[in-house]
Amino acid sequence: MSIVVTGATGHLGRLVVEELLARGVPAEEIVAGGRRVEELTGLAGRGVRVARIDYDDVATLDEALAAGDRLLLVSGSDPAARVQQHRNVIEAAARVGVALVAYTSILRGDASPLALAETHVQTEADVRGAGIPFVLLRNGWYTENYGQALQEAEAAGTVSASAGDGRVASATRADYAAAAAAVLAGEGHEGRVYELSGDTAWSFDEFAAAAAEVLGREVAYRRLTTDEHVAGLTGVGLDEPTARFVAGMDAAIAEGALDSTTGDLSRLAGRPTTPLVEALRALR
Ligand SMILES: NC(=O)c1ccc[n+]([C@@H]2O[C@H](COP(=O)([O-])OP(=O)(O)OC[C@H]3O[C@@H](n4cnc5c(N)ncnc54)[C@H](OP(=O)(O)O)[C@@H]3O)[C@@H](O)[C@H]2O)c1
Repeated sequence: MSIVVTGATGHLGRLVVEELLARGVPAEEIVAGGRRVEELTGLAGRGVRVARIDYDDVATLDEALAAGDRLLLVSGSDPAARVQQHRNVIEAAARVGVALVAYTSILRGDASPLALAETHVQTEADVRGAGIPFVLLRNGWYTENYGQALQEAEAAGTVSASAGDGRVASATRADYAAAAAAVLAGEGHEGRVYELSGDTAWSFDEFAAAAAEVLGREVAYRRLTTDEHVAGLTGVGLDEPTARFVAGMDAAIAEGALDSTTGDLSRLAGRPTTPLVEALRALR
């Protein structure tokens, strides 16, 4: 039995591999997969097995997976292509007899008002229909998504968003990785749907206060309407559909899309999630 982690060339997958090693999973029982395998030489040097995994190239999937493996399918980065890409991975997993597939979905799944949720919901259905034991890791927002907001706070003393009084229960990628590793290395998670998020849901006023504490300067939340947000984004060069997509995420936050604090993440990780101020300090 091996634990196969896709997307190990990326931020989250890499952290999952590190967490598995930290939990004492022998390096030779871990397969780190990705397209840019040259990014995996460091892990290979520590005894981790490395595989080229390209969701569009079925041969790489059949080669990387084996009967009895546990698989973490990290969602692909191209929302327009990823439903079919994930389907390729799930079909390969079923074909070879993988023992468990864990998929990184989105907080609240089909109840989420986020446009991004649609593709995750389709993959969740594929995972459920594949006849393989599965776990859904419904990840909320990474605190790292707000690196640019922190830069704005530092430069201008403002944090601009159109999320109203919406709250975000963000956690760091390392927090989500700890939960994923606990599931992959642990027992009894089959069929579970975990709503993973930070222990605390912060408002943008609270984000501004946290940024002020980290930066040692005054920071205020600049409340935008959706139209003002779109205009600001197109003004700095974003095309209109992308600007509407980004502003739409804030509109969904205003509706409560990302404010769930179920405690699933800290329970799985066995520790509290990283507080916002601490995460922002590390981001800086
Ligand atoms: N929850 C959040 O706040 C949030 C934010 C951003 C993204 N996400 C989602 O979470 C995923 C992981 O986040 P991250 O920060 O680790 O992203 P990341 O650093 O961009 O890594 C994405 C990983 O997915 C792999 N990948 C993408 N398309 C692939 C394909 N067609 N075949 C094989 N591998 C493919 C990449 O492999 P290569 O680099 O080797 O091609 C890379 O390892 C993202 O892909 C995205 O779906 C979540």
